[in-house]
Amino acid sequence: MKRDLVSISDLEPDQLSAIFSLAQRLKRERRAGQAHPLLSGKTLAMLFEKPSLRTRVTFEAGMVQLGGYAVYLSPADIGLGTRESPTDVARNLSRWVDLIMVRTFAHQIVLELAEQATVPVINGLSDLSHPCQILADCLTLIEQRGRLDGLRIAFVGDGNNVVNSWLNVAAKLPISFRLACPPGYEPDAELLASAQKAGGDIRVSHALQDAVDGADVVYTDVWTSMGQEDESAARQQTFAPYQVNAEVLALAKPEALVMHCLPAHRGQEISAEVLDGPQSVVLEQAENRLHVQKAVMVWLLD
Ligand code: CP
Ligand code: NVA
Repeated sequence: MKRDLVSISDLEPDQLSAIFSLAQRLKRERRAGQAHPLLSGKTLAMLFEKPSLRTRVTFEAGMVQLGGYAVYLSPADIGLGTRESPTDVARNLSRWVDLIMVRTFAHQIVLELAEQATVPVINGLSDLSHPCQILADCLTLIEQRGRLDGLRIAFVGDGNNVVNSWLNVAAKLPISFRLACPPGYEPDAELLASAQKAGGDIRVSHALQDAVDGADVVYTDVWTSMGQEDESAARQQTFAPYQVNAEVLALAKPEALVMHCLPAHRGQEISAEVLDGPQSVVLEQAENRLHVQKAVMVWLLD
């Protein structure tokens, strides 16, 4: 049966470990200048309905580094669901390419592509989740702390797609996940309930201090995700008490890491001194998108 990466819940703990190990090997090899054409002759189609820097460049560069080729398709090229249905797009692409990566709005589109394509489909961000980001984040923590087990992640801000993917990880691996969000901005209720039922050590509150107290990692993301631009002014007001700044960081462990998936807005969800400060690993996270996604592509086609 073909594999997909629609959600981190598609992966078992041993598969997560295999992807992290492969990513570490590919990172070492690349740093040593050693070529690894593991996907020689393979083609990746990249469907984008939202903007991107990191996802676009890391998938495209990653595929080239693996000896393959990537085709970029913009919203204007495809018209997913308007010019052509996701089912027809998936069936056509499956006749030409070996892998499909999609960044879109409705998560249902990712699910439909995965169901209809005969080649693996990778979720490069939907309104519901962002699995590739959190895989890169986990790799970053493994490098920085030597382990994921037992780490306490405090997420301050919106219960958005990035949070939902962290909930998927907390359902699989022994980490603690604490979210502080304004009332009304909690994560997907179904996903939260299923992650907690699976035994995930997860707490959602509106009290920033409760979440950040003693944390190993303080994570934040934009207050307004792509597609929510109309709500931006209201969100800036609502989220103002949830900025990650030096005072908030001081509540965490002294050596706590600062994480952000980027792009960031200095002075909104995070202060410049914290984002650019010594505890920040945001560029390590961004770099690891490349290595972990290369590992995901190799693993999907294995
Ligand atoms: N973090 C992330 O996915 O960045 P892009 O939106 O630039 O791809
Ligand atoms: N939550 C953000 C993540 C961007 C990488 C968004 O969806 O816009």
